[in-house]
Amino acid sequence: MAAVEIHGYAIVSDDDRIADAEGRMPDVLRNDADWAYFQSELDRCALVVLGRLGHEANPNPKQRLRLVVSSSSSGLEQRNDGWWWNPAVLPWSEASRLALPQGGRVAVPGGRLVFDLFLEIGYTAFHLARAHGTRLPGGVPVFSGCLQGQTAESVLAGSRLRAGPRRVLDPAGPVSLTVWQAERETRRSSWS
Ligand SMILES: NC(=O)c1ccc[n+]([C@@H]2O[C@H](COP(=O)([O-])OP(=O)(O)OC[C@H]3O[C@@H](n4cnc5c(N)ncnc54)[C@H](OP(=O)(O)O)[C@@H]3O)[C@@H](O)[C@H]2O)c1
Repeated sequence: MAAVEIHGYAIVSDDDRIADAEGRMPDVLRNDADWAYFQSELDRCALVVLGRLGHEANPNPKQRLRLVVSSSSSGLEQRNDGWWWNPAVLPWSEASRLALPQGGRVAVPGGRLVFDLFLEIGYTAFHLARAHGTRLPGGVPVFSGCLQGQTAESVLAGSRLRAGPRRVLDPAGPVSLTVWQAERETRRSSWS
């Protein structure tokens, strides 16, 4: 089977929100440096997987290949605006084999339930940007676990991802970026 890498991308507030209480992406989470980083990463990806609401809210001027997650799909269908996938009907292994037969890098820009879904499937890496000094009470969290008081970091650590160094994307924002990488299987059998 062709190799597929899965990279998640989110920018969150201090309280781990990706959208405000109305479900909209607020200005406090919009940052030029983060956007430039995100776009450069998308340029490296062969497929972008996103929830239906995010797909409808964000035009696709570069005509990137999208796979839209929606319960309205009968499994996996090709529509005019990309692939539409229902994970309750068809597993990711099949969907990715059909949508990306040559393999490659997959970008997952959310939203919440899609981020949750790929925690189960397994991220190769998660690129977590944070807009410091911002809070969005009642907003949409990056992971459902944050509704039960977990931080984004504790959810990622609990999913066998390990934080890389934090770098500053925009000192004025300020906005930082930490890339979490999947832990490699380094444990050796005690018999070896
Ligand atoms: N700050 C960030 O980095 C960031 C990242 C992503 C999104 N956002 C913002 O967050 C808001 C939207 O995010 P959201 O989480 O509310 O919505 P979303 O993920 O964009 O869309 C939700 C929809 O996706 C479908 N879906 C998701 N998971 C599914 C599953 N497991 N099975 C079947 N269908 C599934 C459902 O569509 P159906 O109703 O068709 O079944 C669901 O209604 C927008 O304002 C967006 O701009 C921000």
